[in-house]
Amino acid sequence: MSNHPSPALLAALRDRLGPKGFSSDSADLAPWLEDWRRRYHGAAAAMLSPASTDEVSDIVRFCADEGVALVPQGGNTSMVGGATPGPEGDALLLSMRRMNKMRSLSADANVAVAEAGVILAHLHDAAASVGRRFPLSLGARGSATIGGLVSTNAGGTQVLRFGTMRGLVEGIEAVLPDGSVFNSLAALKKDNRGYDLRQLLIGAEGTLGVVTAATLRLVPAVGSRSVAWIGLASPEKALALLRLLDNAVGDAVESFELVPRQALDLVLRHVSGTRAPLQGTHEWHVLVEAVAPMVAPDPEKEFGRALRAALAIGVVEDAVIAASEAQAEAFWRLRDSISEAEKKDGPAAKHDISVEVSTMPRFMVEAAAEVERRFPGTRVVPFGHLGDGNVHFNVRAPTDAAAGWIENEGLAVTAFVHDLVTAAGGSISAEHGIGQMRLSELARLGDPARLAAMRAIKKALDPKGIMNPGKLVPALDDAQESLA
Ligand code: MLT
Ligand code: ZN
Repeated sequence: MSNHPSPALLAALRDRLGPKGFSSDSADLAPWLEDWRRRYHGAAAAMLSPASTDEVSDIVRFCADEGVALVPQGGNTSMVGGATPGPEGDALLLSMRRMNKMRSLSADANVAVAEAGVILAHLHDAAASVGRRFPLSLGARGSATIGGLVSTNAGGTQVLRFGTMRGLVEGIEAVLPDGSVFNSLAALKKDNRGYDLRQLLIGAEGTLGVVTAATLRLVPAVGSRSVAWIGLASPEKALALLRLLDNAVGDAVESFELVPRQALDLVLRHVSGTRAPLQGTHEWHVLVEAVAPMVAPDPEKEFGRALRAALAIGVVEDAVIAASEAQAEAFWRLRDSISEAEKKDGPAAKHDISVEVSTMPRFMVEAAAEVERRFPGTRVVPFGHLGDGNVHFNVRAPTDAAAGWIENEGLAVTAFVHDLVTAAGGSISAEHGIGQMRLSELARLGDPARLAAMRAIKKALDPKGIMNPGKLVPALDDAQESLA
């Protein structure tokens, strides 16, 4: 258990950080004490907003001395309550948003060094200004920060070719739980000096220290892209199409996103200015993006030829390739609006699962049938990153569901879905992390050897338990607690 911050500690922090770096005004704090989905409501005595690594180091040292907990926060777009303090009010909120400098950007070395508070969209712009790009993107790119993306090992809609953050972070600077600074920003391709602390900090959700900057891999800018909206009969056909496109255009396929008819209907109903790209009705769609760098031949001809072949052999029912950038953006808007449309439509038990890519189509269809049979009136609307085996297997509440469905029946639905995915050898958190929301489920279903190792690592690096307590690492009794 951490301690409440004393008046003396608060005064010392205020002196060290100055008026821009310290606030205990409840109006300043309020927007940052609630998670993006409005499921978690926390409390904190103050919000600390350091502007440098030295300031972060002093904050952590002061807090470690008094055993006071810190909750690091970036853009506050965690899907699992990972950056929201608990309700007790004994933790301090550590906002990284003022540390927003691009420290360096090199087209020759193909790397950028960005501080934790740099917003993803700004990194995209900075990379484009030197003829490069940072190849990870997601719906929250206008607010998600580099520190948050590293700390959650973010995925998104472009993982197929370049992987998650883990594959894109070449160096890290972080403040460890005793206030010491771990500087490993050099982009070394080979480094065998022992345990890889960088990889340990990626995806640690701030439980092992505070990421203050990262060296990120850049790749050649996009020369041309082809974006197609494709109608098909089943997830199996979608996977067959992915294999066909792999053979025809290989690495060029960077996004392969599955959208069921119900998800498209939700977007068309709730998001203004949207229209269906194809005329007929199809049970399933995929949004595919194929990209070629400046110097490579345009993939459009091969891509179009492969789609026509898929149509001829019945893998695909219909398809349209965007004729302009505006149309490509309109296709992407349909995909990126699914969560927003879902939220407007009513309650759902949300899941972020993965199984092996080749087994996902069958898993999805069979699991959906089992869920709908076991929980009459529910509808499964699974969508997302089929190309990398990660689907948001969301289960919509029955239309006559009572208020509080998510916190009651929804929890039983979640346990049922997680049991199915665990039995299939998959993961209950493919890209959103564990945060607070998945903690008890990780405790219930996680591999005991892995959980014991996680607890041991946490205890070794953060013996006072001050770094983002109550997130990611289940305590021994967490399995008994409610899922909410
Ligand atoms: C997405 O892929 O759209 C998000 O990760 C899913 C979500 O908002 O649940
Ligand atoms: Zn996603």
